[in-house]
Amino acid sequence: MRRRLPIAGLLASLLWMAPLASAQETAPAPLVKVWKTPTCGCCGKWVRHMEAAGFRIESTDVDNVDPVKTANGLPLKLASCHTALVGGYVVEGHVPAADVRRLLREKPAILGLAAPGMPAGSPGMDVPGSPPYEVLAVAKDGSTSVWSVQRPK
Ligand code: CU
Ligand code: CU
Repeated sequence: MRRRLPIAGLLASLLWMAPLASAQETAPAPLVKVWKTPTCGCCGKWVRHMEAAGFRIESTDVDNVDPVKTANGLPLKLASCHTALVGGYVVEGHVPAADVRRLLREKPAILGLAAPGMPAGSPGMDVPGSPPYEVLAVAKDGSTSVWSVQRPK
């Protein structure tokens, strides 16, 4: 019976160390830097959508977001209410968290993603029964292609 004691002790210390080990293996949640106007309610809702999906958010209020878009190469014809940067990409507007995750996983050589305007039914613009909308991949030259088609529930 005595021989079991060291093993029990070893098991106990392994259990004790397990949370530490898994914390080190898990990458920190990606940081999303957001620029929005202080009165933008739907922007705040998108931020909460991203936080709920596990992203860390650093939000900055500005009177005009357009200079942030322009400085990061986003054509203003693709503009939405807020602009975000994550992992070296631009994320414009109400892009679903799942699309941002896919972007960070696949790492395409593009500028980023955009949901131009304010599509009804997108995260933060929750209107039940909205028609489908497209999330666009924005190339570095500003041209676009369809990244995903979203069908709001
Ligand atoms: Cu909005
Ligand atoms: Cu917004």
